[in-house]
Amino acid sequence: MNNKFLPLVVVLAILLAGLYWVFGLPMVGNPEISTSPEAIARGEYIYNAGGCAACHQVEDAEGPIGGYVIEVENPFPNTFYTPNITPDDETGIGGWTGRDFILAMKHGRSPEGGFYWPSFPYRTYQNMTDEDVLDLAAYLMAQPAIASEVPDHVLPAWQFDFLMAGWNILADFMEGEPPAISEDAQVQRGAYLARALGHCGECHTPRNALGMMILPQEFAGSEIVSKPINPEGLSSWTAFDFVGLLQLGMTASFDFVGGEMAEVIEHTSMLSEEDQEAYAAFFIHEDD
Ligand code: HEC
Ligand code: HEC
Repeated sequence: MNNKFLPLVVVLAILLAGLYWVFGLPMVGNPEISTSPEAIARGEYIYNAGGCAACHQVEDAEGPIGGYVIEVENPFPNTFYTPNITPDDETGIGGWTGRDFILAMKHGRSPEGGFYWPSFPYRTYQNMTDEDVLDLAAYLMAQPAIASEVPDHVLPAWQFDFLMAGWNILADFMEGEPPAISEDAQVQRGAYLARALGHCGECHTPRNALGMMILPQEFAGSEIVSKPINPEGLSSWTAFDFVGLLQLGMTASFDFVGGEMAEVIEHTSMLSEEDQEAYAAFFIHEDD
């Protein structure tokens, strides 16, 4: 090769590598989705722990047929319709593979390589283990396929999904790390439930101007709920109070939570007592 072109080739190679890094689909393999009753049962539990129904299965729908409306001002008005995630071939996720589930839940990418909007809390679900994602897949694929068309999102014309490629990379750098927690197994389990499944931070953690969670200020309050639920905010709560909240929706001051939090309680109340106690161990620091 003529040496004169070498710098150009190097620049092109770097550019292509950069584009691939930004737009390429992560290599996630294509693990099998189990059809065993055990995996399906574990998946149902994850489905509840992840609060999927709050957005995908609404108003007595027979299954997660979507159609729930999410309005966001960012600062332009966006209207999202949650998709049908029953295994219907035409209108749902029929034919999805293990790879498709891991790409969607943990990377915010569609099977065709498109980018999901973060109104789908994949920035939280990315903390799930692959095993849990695959159990969830086993459960969803075992549900009856329900044909139900969902309207397209209504977004400003310039708001292309590929913008999320850059946003995701920026978010990796800008979200930061949540506060460190104890190595205690129960606290760790509670952290996994809250940070990977229950997506508590999606509503309770403040966001920066680009709409990314500010993880070092985890649970310090947001535009949705100003009251902090970090150790300071919950300093008067006992673990017993917190388990009561997850089971009944009652706060330490004997109020019942309403609105979106009431929907959250619908799912936390279905968790095992062991997991509710793990949540409490993570959120409540009674000795300090
Ligand atoms: C806060 C609301 C919300 C919650 C909670 C939520 N989702 Fe979604 N989900 C969405 C939205 C909105 C989209 C569409 C995103 C887009 O089109 O860019 C979506 C997209 C999806 C998709 C892609 C479907 C397709 O046809 O491409 C899957 C799969 C999915 N969600 C599964 C789940 C599972 C499983 C859970 C629970 C662990 C869950 N979601 C929880 C809002 C939510
Ligand atoms: C979809 C948004 C949303 C999600 C997700 C969410 N919350 Fe909330 N939460 C709220 C809202 C809104 C309130 C205020 C409700 C009210 O005052 O009636 C609230 C209130 C609370 C309170 C009561 C604070 C007080 O002192 O009154 C606690 C504690 C709490 N949430 C914990 C959690 C935990 C734990 C999770 C995760 C399992 C969670 N929330 C997930 C929206 C959310």
